Amino acid sequence: MANVTIFGAGYVGVPTGAHFARTHTVTVYDPDARKVQSINDVIEKKSDSLHIHEKGLIELLQENHENIHATSDILEALEDPEIIFIAVGTPPNEKGRANLKYVCAAAEQIAKNIKNDCVVLNKSTVPPGTAYLVKEIIENNRVNDVKISVGSCPEFLAEGTAIEDLRTPDRIVYGCDDQDALDRVTDFFLYLHGKATLCPMSTVSSEVTKYAANALLATKISFMNSLAMLCDSIGANVREVQDGVGKDTRIGRKFLNASMGYGGSCFPKDTMAIAEYGQLFKSPLEIIESTIKVNDKTTNYFTEKIIETFGSDLSGKNFIVWGIGFKARTDDLRESKPVQVAKELMDRGAHVHIYDTVAGALTNFVNENNCYEGKFTLHHEQYEMVSEAIDGLVIGNEHEKFRNLNIKILKIMRGKHIYDGKNILNNRLIKDLIASGFTYKSIGKDSVASEIEKNKLISFLKNEYMD
Ligand SMILES: NC(=O)c1ccc[n+]([C@@H]2O[C@H](COP(=O)([O-])OP(=O)(O)OC[C@H]3O[C@@H](n4cnc5c(N)ncnc54)[C@H](O)[C@@H]3O)[C@@H](O)[C@H]2O)c1
Repeated sequence: MANVTIFGAGYVGVPTGAHFARTHTVTVYDPDARKVQSINDVIEKKSDSLHIHEKGLIELLQENHENIHATSDILEALEDPEIIFIAVGTPPNEKGRANLKYVCAAAEQIAKNIKNDCVVLNKSTVPPGTAYLVKEIIENNRVNDVKISVGSCPEFLAEGTAIEDLRTPDRIVYGCDDQDALDRVTDFFLYLHGKATLCPMSTVSSEVTKYAANALLATKISFMNSLAMLCDSIGANVREVQDGVGKDTRIGRKFLNASMGYGGSCFPKDTMAIAEYGQLFKSPLEIIESTIKVNDKTTNYFTEKIIETFGSDLSGKNFIVWGIGFKARTDDLRESKPVQVAKELMDRGAHVHIYDTVAGALTNFVNENNCYEGKFTLHHEQYEMVSEAIDGLVIGNEHEKFRNLNIKILKIMRGKHIYDGKNILNNRLIKDLIASGFTYKSIGKDSVASEIEKNKLISFLKNEYMD
């Protein structure tokens, strides 16, 4: 059992702390006293709500209550940790580069207050080399004569499945150039996971690994999204293509779902950050740059489908958006594509009725979009906003509640238009929708709703491919 301190009580810090507390003693430090209070209240079973939404997190905190607590007192946080994880935010700055000010501030706090030897591992997603910078900051500000090794331990959890991801990871990547410290981290993880999952390496390699993994996953999505646009043009169904390609085990089926684009707090930020890093080092990462361009293009492609139906002025139109979180089961709206689409509709004069299965997502929408007040209405029931005044329904994320929509209720809408931003409706349901007078638009499977224009394809081939 080791004493561990985690800097940052966010989407990474709290689930990670709750997971480590299965076998270690954990202190979560955050200067935000409100978040600290919220965690401690849950641990002590005084409350059942946290400042972030993550499935199973409250239960895990309460299960491991003897081994975990949160504090905003830096001295208490640095009482005697053997390993410190930095899990603070690294939001993009205006150039698309990761902002390191929170990581550097944490390093300085550690340097000024630590009283014992320890290993500091950076969990935040950062440009390669940042651990060396953290080491330098600690050495320059260190007050006590202690040995501090610094390395990196990037996080791969995904919001919505964080607890399961932490419990059964494919691999745990960590790097440190000090072999003794690396061995201590290996021992730490062996209490939680089998040896086969561990991936020790050099500091800088572990930092590159995090960006490489996120950029490759984002690239799979953009790759399929660019094919989805072609599928719509020629009458193919991208879902079928996804299966045909993804069942090749060399490729794999995951992250091949075409959609209105990837969002969230990681992929957009991390692809931008590593592309910018490559540019700065005169080693451009062209494939990742294209991934980013395709992602932006795909969202525009989807909103254009709505605009094509109604024209660019949407005054007097009313839309429903089901699912506002960047994906199902999260309250996190950072870089959320459904938020982007909702804003575009409101900017063009429409009123938007928003529903999400996570109440916190609706609260965050209000807090982050004050300037749109009066242009949207929030709903806590999926169908309560359906009325004659509605012109179209946008499916914003992949929650299963949106897969099996109730045509009988929706039929009352004056505009019978369904925009499936996540391609989640199945072919039979789409055909039922069409039979009930609806139109259906997606990203790459519009062909399910319309006849393939075979003659157009034949004449194209005759014109372009025959002498
Ligand atoms: N969210 C994800 O799904 C995810 C997944 C993998 C990696 N990451 C990376 O992990 C890092 C953290 O992401 P997040 O989503 O948890 O961020 P977040 O914004 O949810 O949380 C960051 C927390 O750090 C706190 N903080 C700021 N300065 C601090 C300091 N000096 N000391 C202690 N705490 C401080 C903030 O108050 C906040 O609570 C980022 O670099 C992110 O890219 C995130």
